[in-house]
Amino acid sequence: MFLSEFLDDIFNKVSSGKSIFKNREVLNIDYIPKRILFREDQIKKMAEILSPIIRGAKPSNLLLYGKTGTGKTMVARYVINKLREHINDQNTIFIYLNCRIDGTLYRVLSEIGDYMGIKIPFTGLSLSEVEKRIFNHLVNKGTKLVLVLDEIDFLVNNPAKRDMGNNILYDFTRYDSVYTVKNGSNSFITIVGISNDLKFMEYLEGRVQSSLRSEEILFPPYTVEEIKEILKDRVKEAFVENSVGEDIINLIAAYSGSEHGDARRAVDLLRVSGELAEREGRNKIDVKDVEEALKNIEKDKVQEAISSLPIHEKAVIFSIANFANGETTGHVYLKYQEVCNQLGLQPLTERRISAIINELDMLGLVTAPIINRGRHGRSKKVQLAVDKNQIINALKNDEVFKLLFNAV
Ligand SMILES: Nc1ncnc2c1ncn2[C@@H]1O[C@H](COP(=O)(O)OP(=O)(O)O)[C@@H](O)[C@H]1O
Ligand SMILES: [Mg+2]
Repeated sequence: MFLSEFLDDIFNKVSSGKSIFKNREVLNIDYIPKRILFREDQIKKMAEILSPIIRGAKPSNLLLYGKTGTGKTMVARYVINKLREHINDQNTIFIYLNCRIDGTLYRVLSEIGDYMGIKIPFTGLSLSEVEKRIFNHLVNKGTKLVLVLDEIDFLVNNPAKRDMGNNILYDFTRYDSVYTVKNGSNSFITIVGISNDLKFMEYLEGRVQSSLRSEEILFPPYTVEEIKEILKDRVKEAFVENSVGEDIINLIAAYSGSEHGDARRAVDLLRVSGELAEREGRNKIDVKDVEEALKNIEKDKVQEAISSLPIHEKAVIFSIANFANGETTGHVYLKYQEVCNQLGLQPLTERRISAIINELDMLGLVTAPIINRGRHGRSKKVQLAVDKNQIINALKNDEVFKLLFNAV
């Protein structure tokens, strides 16, 4: 088929077939559903903890935690929106930020500045200067601030910036006693941290940790049955009637519930499956759409996980990808040294590589069970857990690896 006929074909299918979506926005990741199921306890607890703000008093700092897709972001935004409706004091403000999306500490601070109407240049100021401007502004206005830091772990994940991240969090938790007491203003900051991963606590200084964890709310994974109910509501809001059968809902729930309890994965699968059916001009989602959607989503996840790895982690996974079968940590290390040579990197120690292999295992990119080798002691059998081509494709986008692939 000629290219132009091919395009005609695609566009005709879309324009002739009625869309199976009634309201596509409902499937966006930041949509807050009409009915929030199974999170009553968390919503009530968060509302109670923050409620003093309505009288102008300072609520405790709070940490929301639980795995991806357990409704933390949704609940936080829902409660904050509700609180806003009950407050008509201009000096009480709520700021919601996502620390992963904002990327750097500087960006996070300048976003906070933006919300408050302080102009902060793109670069040029030191972090402490930006922070000082924010704090001065808050004190002068007597602002009461509830600061929601979603994916807060990204402020301290990077070892090179961990101290800076801790310092800033410390300053924010100390704002009330340092600034307010000195100036006699009744301004304060309450921090609501949100994290998919409690491991980041290890990266926090003790004083920051205890302050942030004054109150905690756990978000457990959803069961398959719960995911089904969540999906049913979403299907009703998003799709034309009869375009998503019960069998499809069950299948998506099975793919997102059993192992993960992840409503995000469920909603994503539903959206992508719908798009695939629509693209072919069908008015019903098929099982094969869901299976195709699952493949797409897994591929995206792997790409995303790999592209955000530091360079030595990338070198390690590339080394592992070079073996057809499971290899010992020792062999991976030899290969890794070779790769470092080719990339012009100074290799890290074998101990560090062993730790990196554990991290990659936790990310689901490799498996590394410990095996017994008789009189040779114990070792790990390291193997890729994902398709080798996905690794290679993701690495092709890396500036350093690009050179290596071009050279081959
Ligand atoms: N209890 C629920 N009821 C309805 N939709 C939900 C529920 N929990 C999560 N979702 C949906 O699942 C997706 C992921 O939720 P989100 O709050 O982003 O999870 P987290 O922040 O914990 O990773 C969102 O689209 C959200 O609307
Ligand atoms: Mg979230």
